[in-house]
Amino acid sequence: MSQPDAKTRDEVTRLRAELEDANYRYYVLDDPALTDAEYDRKLRRLQEIEGDHPELVTPDSPTQRVGAPPAEGFPEVEHAVPMLSLDNAFDEDEIRAFVRRAGERLERDGETLAFCCEPKLDGTAVSLVYENGELASGATRGDGRTGEGITTNLRTLRSVPLKLRGATPPGLIEVRGEVTIAHDKFEALNERARQEGGKVFANPRNAAAGSLRQLDPRITATRPLEFNAYQVARIEPDPGEETHSGLMARLTDYGFRINNLLQVVHGSQGLIDYCRDLGEKRDGLGYDIDGVVIKVDDLRLQRELGFVARAPRWAVAFKFPAQEQVTRLNDVEYQVGRTGAITPVARLEPVAVAGVTVANASLHNQDEIARLGVKIGDRVSIRRAGDVIPQVVRVVEPAPAGDARDIVFPSQCPVCGSEVERIEGEAVARCSGGLYCPAQRKEAFRHFAGRRALDIDGLGEKLIDQLIERDWVKTPAALFRLDAAQLTELPRMGRKSSENLVAALDKAKRTTLPRFIYALGIREVGEATANNLARHFGTLDAIIAADQAALEAVEDIGPIVAHHVHTFFQQSHNLETIEDLRAQGVRWEEAAVEERPQPLSGQTWVLTGTLESMTRDEGKARLTALGAKVAGSVSKKTAGVVAGPGAGSKLDKAEQMGVPVLDEREFLSRLEAWERGDTPSTPGEAT
Ligand code: IVH
Repeated sequence: MSQPDAKTRDEVTRLRAELEDANYRYYVLDDPALTDAEYDRKLRRLQEIEGDHPELVTPDSPTQRVGAPPAEGFPEVEHAVPMLSLDNAFDEDEIRAFVRRAGERLERDGETLAFCCEPKLDGTAVSLVYENGELASGATRGDGRTGEGITTNLRTLRSVPLKLRGATPPGLIEVRGEVTIAHDKFEALNERARQEGGKVFANPRNAAAGSLRQLDPRITATRPLEFNAYQVARIEPDPGEETHSGLMARLTDYGFRINNLLQVVHGSQGLIDYCRDLGEKRDGLGYDIDGVVIKVDDLRLQRELGFVARAPRWAVAFKFPAQEQVTRLNDVEYQVGRTGAITPVARLEPVAVAGVTVANASLHNQDEIARLGVKIGDRVSIRRAGDVIPQVVRVVEPAPAGDARDIVFPSQCPVCGSEVERIEGEAVARCSGGLYCPAQRKEAFRHFAGRRALDIDGLGEKLIDQLIERDWVKTPAALFRLDAAQLTELPRMGRKSSENLVAALDKAKRTTLPRFIYALGIREVGEATANNLARHFGTLDAIIAADQAALEAVEDIGPIVAHHVHTFFQQSHNLETIEDLRAQGVRWEEAAVEERPQPLSGQTWVLTGTLESMTRDEGKARLTALGAKVAGSVSKKTAGVVAGPGAGSKLDKAEQMGVPVLDEREFLSRLEAWERGDTPSTPGEAT
């Protein structure tokens, strides 16, 4: 093996700095600098060089986060400072009482005290010790005095700095925080486990704790864990920081991620306002919290207040209502989706879960029912978190003997009676009826007529249901043969609305190739894929003629999607429907790849925080479809920033730079106007 030359050494140094900087930007600043693909490419390049020159490997190299061999067990680690728990406050009176008690002990008016408020993250607590700026050890809380040494596992988290940032790290620092998993990542993790028969977790907290206690760190490395710092247990030499919030700011400089909703408030009213406000934001945060941690901000006063038994006198946890509740499973019904997928839905004795009444929950599929071992009549635990559909988590108490009913998965479609099929290796069972099945047909028509597809104005859900129940339309092409006289036979359809619908149908015939492809409802072909197909092939006939390999050559299309597209165009009934649609006058300009108005072309937008009515990816897709670029960071050239709850540094930066900021409501109304093509394109202008 050759000696590394100076150029190689430089490249290694540069790659390491870029990778750690990318972690910092992503986790701490919430302002990603690299895409995942770029990150992976750089990491692979670094691995390649280190593979050729093992003498260049250092313990803090980003490549060293993964790859340690499995452990036999975890060593016991005694905490130098015990990891305490917190007393709880369950209502506003208990918050006032906490403030009063703190004031009395400190012989001052509690109402003048400053408190640092933070979301109480619902994950698992860990402690990290850094010596001379380098991660020396990491441990679980354990019983508070002794935890388990899980250093190699913690090293796999990209939000755990292996080396502290900054020129002069402290000689010794112990940082504590919560390891969490965001809702979307948690759902994806469980969905994968359900598909592959792996372990399904009840909630993100269990998933985080279980992932950290894997003996094989390579497994931990695949779990979407995040470390969020919330306390400094020891720091030497003492930097002389006077407040907890000041210490937290120092931690961000060292490279730690701090929750962006941390805020200093005064007196009990400040605390109560913060708790109410966070309670309202809770559902939109995208991660689990179970309350607010309230801490006296002044570190000197913290020391003066000290501890009782197992909890500090300077802090209290205000608890929100639980996200899990127990109720009775009354029945199971089955829904049939657009692609025929049959989803069992639990009908529950209605129960309030964190402020919302839940009467239905997802049971996912047949395997999930077997895994839960659930029967009708059982008392089950229901979890509701944010926008995610409520789920049945486990059986808490089986139905009394004689009262339990087995859940029998239907072998025939509950809507059309067609055979239910389950492809080997797939978890979903599907109705084999295709467009014969009214349930699938209804969904397919809804999709076809939708705003992002053919955009047939006035053809709503109810109307579609009636058309299908009367069997007036078997394929979408039949829509264009409806006449106004016939439509007036439908309830609540007068002459005017019937004529309007016919006119809307006529107008919808003129479309674009991407919209048409999307409207067909091919499995896994969303707007972005439809766009890519149209751009790549230019004409519908070229797409129809493409074989699997040609389809896989399209940007972002893998073997599975290519297979779905290919199979779709192999079916003669699909080709006949397409021909019929063309015969009815449905048309688009071939090879004119993007016909939609592009009012945002040349503009760069930034999305930050959580959106409630769509995912960030959807928001991004819609902006891109209008010609905008979507970037990860704000600059003077940014045309607009869309900020949802939880927006952090990007929002601050936008405000500093005078970049227009839209909230979700404004964003939606602008988006819709732009998509209709009838409004100015600058966020600063009035609509
Ligand atoms: S401070 C001395 N801050 O809540 C107490 N704890 O009972 C130091 N937790 O399991 C804890 N978010 O892991 C603190 N922002 C936060 C927190 C937080 C969650 C957890 C912690 C512990 C429990 C405290």
